[in-house]
Amino acid sequence: MADRVFCIDFGSSYTKVALRRDPSADAELIRHGGETVSAEDYWFPSTVVVDRTGPRPVPEFGERALGRVADARVEVHRDWKKWLFLTPAPAAAAVPPLDALLRSDEFRTLAAKYQVPAVAVASLQQLATAATGLYSAAGGRMPSVETQQQAFAASLAVYFFKWVRDQVLAACAKLPTTGLKFDEIPVRVTVPALGDGPPETRPGAKALAAALAKAGWPLHPDRPVVTEPYSNAIGVLTGGANAVAPRRKVILLGKMFSNGPLITVMKDPAHYPSYRALVVDIGSFTTDLAAVTFAPNGETVEDLDAAVGVTQMSLPLGVTDLDDAVRSGLPAEKAAALGQLTGRDREDFRRMVYADGKGYRRPGLSLGGPGDEAVKAAIAGVAAKVAEAVSAFCERTPPAFRQELILTGGGSLVPALRDAVQSAAATHGHSYVKTHAPFAKKPPAGTLVNRLDDRTARGGSAIGGASIFFDRDFY
Ligand SMILES: Nc1ncnc2c1ncn2[C@@H]1O[C@H](COP(=O)(O)OP(=O)(O)OP(=O)(O)O)[C@@H](O)[C@H]1O
Ligand SMILES: [Mg+2]
Repeated sequence: MADRVFCIDFGSSYTKVALRRDPSADAELIRHGGETVSAEDYWFPSTVVVDRTGPRPVPEFGERALGRVADARVEVHRDWKKWLFLTPAPAAAAVPPLDALLRSDEFRTLAAKYQVPAVAVASLQQLATAATGLYSAAGGRMPSVETQQQAFAASLAVYFFKWVRDQVLAACAKLPTTGLKFDEIPVRVTVPALGDGPPETRPGAKALAAALAKAGWPLHPDRPVVTEPYSNAIGVLTGGANAVAPRRKVILLGKMFSNGPLITVMKDPAHYPSYRALVVDIGSFTTDLAAVTFAPNGETVEDLDAAVGVTQMSLPLGVTDLDDAVRSGLPAEKAAALGQLTGRDREDFRRMVYADGKGYRRPGLSLGGPGDEAVKAAIAGVAAKVAEAVSAFCERTPPAFRQELILTGGGSLVPALRDAVQSAAATHGHSYVKTHAPFAKKPPAGTLVNRLDDRTARGGSAIGGASIFFDRDFY
């Protein structure tokens, strides 16, 4: 049991951290940054740069990392979260990847283009095969590319979470004094709902928890890992409120959810036998879906598992897939220019092209805007995939008595994606009393929209993961 907890929502683009200082203190996002408060102060860029221009490699993080361009001696690692969570292929591929490359038609064509003699290509193939043989003879099996990427991401994670820890502890030191030893507060981390079995037993979650421990974070003793869709739903629905009965270790669900839409069912279970929130979070790497259904029979819930039902899944599809879809339709030089944008420029590009429908114009790169049909088609393709997943999820989740639709994540600011989610969520007999989202656009006639603030819409998983809701000893 832990009376207080940090929760890290490790995002592919941005990491968010929340703190619950006491069992019934609000779960609050940790703010870093300067004197002026802006929404960005609540997210830590997940980009890691390794600068190899000096005698020793120097890691860089945060705003500095977002401003760097990759070159031969500057590695810019972004979107490396997926390397931890995409299932690694079996340890030894039938043909080692290097051999496959050297024997491929594409490689032969490239060699011909550069007038490399056939004998040189054959020698290179033999050399690679011999190297693989030596490696195997030494007792090793050639690890798959995925396994190597996973190991690399795990080592980046140690550096990254050390940096995050320094930032968080520095921010906590500025909080009104409470006498708390912030460095001893345990941490819980969120992971995508990918794979089977309890979340903490999945390979990506294990690698992440190990990296956090190496980075100096004490792990939560009972529940170090929660899934992103579930924690996001709890964060958004409670707004970070935590309530326990005085003197008794019992969670007061009615109080915790008193700011959210689901309070109706707590107050009036006779007339509202079940109430559901369907939460869709479109992130950078995954789209997370959670259907959280409440069917309590009073204000105080003794058996939380009986009162709260959860269906959840994550889908490896997000804003980075929009970039990939756009890039795949571009000529090589333009695709390379898009890949070479700094993290900060990439944010501008995404906002202008995907969210505002404007053109992005830079030397060597002119993309998007009303006349760019290829970009529109790329966005429509990703939107169709998101819609398909949401509709399939609705099909296997029978409608509840009353339902709320909640859209979160940076990707829900892209009109094509949010429209796709809204339409697909209203299939298979599902309808909603209200939509909660970080945009104010008028919804189809007859439905209501509640505008979520940026902190809740992007920080829900961190806030929810720090909730007392996930500390089993309180109920
Ligand atoms: N207005 C906007 N228009 C388009 N894209 C945006 C906008 N605002 C934010 N984004 C993009 O949305 C992406 C997703 O943001 P979010 O913080 O939800 O992702 P994440 O949590 O890092 O990813 P994941 O949860 O998949 O690991 C960011 O990469 C950002 O570039
Ligand atoms: Mg996220």
